[in-house]
Amino acid sequence: MEARHFLKVTDLAKAEVETVLIAAASWKKQPLGSVLQGKTVALVFGKPSTRTRVSFSVGVYQLGGMPLALSEQELQMRRSESIEDTARVLSRYVDAIVIRTFAQRDVEDLAAHATVPVINALTDDDHPCQALTDVFTFRERFPDASGRKIVYLGDGNNVAASLAEACALTGIDICLSVPEGYDLPPGKMTEIQTLANANGTGFQVERDPTAAVAGASALYTDVWISMGQESDSAKVEALRPYQLNDDLLRRARPEAIALHCLPAHRGDEITDEVMDGPRSAVFDQAENRLHVQKALMSFLLEGDRR
Ligand code: CP
Repeated sequence: MEARHFLKVTDLAKAEVETVLIAAASWKKQPLGSVLQGKTVALVFGKPSTRTRVSFSVGVYQLGGMPLALSEQELQMRRSESIEDTARVLSRYVDAIVIRTFAQRDVEDLAAHATVPVINALTDDDHPCQALTDVFTFRERFPDASGRKIVYLGDGNNVAASLAEACALTGIDICLSVPEGYDLPPGKMTEIQTLANANGTGFQVERDPTAAVAGASALYTDVWISMGQESDSAKVEALRPYQLNDDLLRRARPEAIALHCLPAHRGDEITDEVMDGPRSAVFDQAENRLHVQKALMSFLLEGDRR
């Protein structure tokens, strides 16, 4: 049987996303299982991580398996060994590979030559594990999530792209409030629009953040300068009006929540008042990475058995 990979949100069909989200709720209630009993999961990191690394490590352990954390810089793949050969070799030792790296193409090449499931733990283009978790967290707060709107404020980055795809697949409207010049790549915008049309969900770009947040049930933001990017004062200035602060939150629906994938640069893209305020769901969101990724690993390795 061919290994199932999760390199972008749309690698799961709509019904499969639902299966994973239902299982995640179950793992949240009963954390221990044996789905990965006797199995090893390689966690390959080429960029820093707190949440992804720790939640995958703990998740594999709680499922009865052994997490094997590897730094990309310490592997031969960053010296001279090809991604393809790395995939072939790791597949002989481990039962799944979780990888965080720069180019989406590298993750695709790894998956193309691996015989075990490969999970994208963030690339420059996508952050699909985060996006599944974001939808899970939104639904936890709003069981009537279908037709509600999430507004993403700030930089059109990997988190925004995967979030928009996950919303389109799960019946949630998404509005990207991004300044001109910081949009998602045109090809990605077209893919998301096509996905939203096929699923009957709203997908919109609104440059004016105060107009964007009207009617929103969640305001979501991410760091303005992503990992691997140089500091850029022009970008920071362009993004400043998109800060997630109390003023913007007040303009959303009264029950609206604040989301952030973390790490946060407090005082830039989000204020202390919002992060620590009563409408913040950011730490639930961080916790939920654990439950959702356990459900995802169980699904990819074992079908939907828990
Ligand atoms: N949100 C997220 O991926 O966090 P880390 O970079 O700490 O893994």
